[in-house]
Amino acid sequence: MISAIAGEGTAQNRVSTRGFLADVLAGLTAEPKTLSPKYFYDSAGSELFDAICEQEEYYPTCTEISILRTHANDMAKAIGADAMVVEYGAGSMEKIRILLDALVTPVAFVPVDISEAHLIASARDLSRAYPSLAVQQVVADFTKPVQLPAPPRPVSRCVALFFGSTIGNFDPDPTVAILRSIGDTVGPEGGLLIGVDLQKDEDRLVRAYDDAAGITADFNLNLLTRINRELGGDFVLKRFRHLVRYDRDLGRIEMHLESLVDQSVRVAGRAFNFVAGETIHTENSYKYTLASFDDLATRAGFRRDQHWTDGEGLFAELFYTRTP
Ligand code: AVI
Repeated sequence: MISAIAGEGTAQNRVSTRGFLADVLAGLTAEPKTLSPKYFYDSAGSELFDAICEQEEYYPTCTEISILRTHANDMAKAIGADAMVVEYGAGSMEKIRILLDALVTPVAFVPVDISEAHLIASARDLSRAYPSLAVQQVVADFTKPVQLPAPPRPVSRCVALFFGSTIGNFDPDPTVAILRSIGDTVGPEGGLLIGVDLQKDEDRLVRAYDDAAGITADFNLNLLTRINRELGGDFVLKRFRHLVRYDRDLGRIEMHLESLVDQSVRVAGRAFNFVAGETIHTENSYKYTLASFDDLATRAGFRRDQHWTDGEGLFAELFYTRTP
């Protein structure tokens, strides 16, 4: 029996409440305090992220979409016919449609994401739009190895897609580890098409992460709402504010939640003290040059074949093949 029917899926490495609690307690005990950005994406957070992508200041999404639209045929040629395509951090699955329209007889599409409800709903919509495509979603934390489902027919090669510069949310060493694990997943003839946000002037970067409508601020603060709801926290949101910094030396945007007052917050019965001005570091978003990203990919066992960028050089789509 064919196990790859559009809309079926598997769950691996699901985020458990126990894991969330352990990470939050460890993060709030650390100095400086920190929380992992992977916990942004509950259903409210996923919706807020979709709204961020529509903000005028947040250039990565529209720029990447325009690169995909302009070069989809060349990307499809690089991927080749009869491929299994695996999208890491698939989210709303809008960008993949551009590539699916250009791909030649793809065998299966495997969207991988940590946000289960969002993944299932998006996979269902995609299956309706592409009824002959096998969509085999996997609920998983892609920082750990992902086991691919059995494809419905033989595949020429497996190609990972990693859009949206999500890779930029990891520090360099974990980035190499994730790329290496993607290389293991796609196997010897495998490929990787990855979206990377490029270095640019600081003002443009800060505006992208501190939009005038305050959507990114809501996205950041939603992490506290999630802790209150799921872990019995008592964060008072108006006692914190969204803060964005650019670290030029490390080439990264940082998001923080800054305590506006001296205060004590309880989570799962434990107290955490804040002094006014102290922050919880919630996200890094690294910005690369082609050469600096190639360095990491090379360490992970990939060789760059091609790349595509926009006229302003804001963002790049890089295509790598696994080196033997
Ligand atoms: C998902 N990731 C690539 C986004 C970024 O740009 O780093 C997350 C984000 N954080 C604030 N705005 C968008």
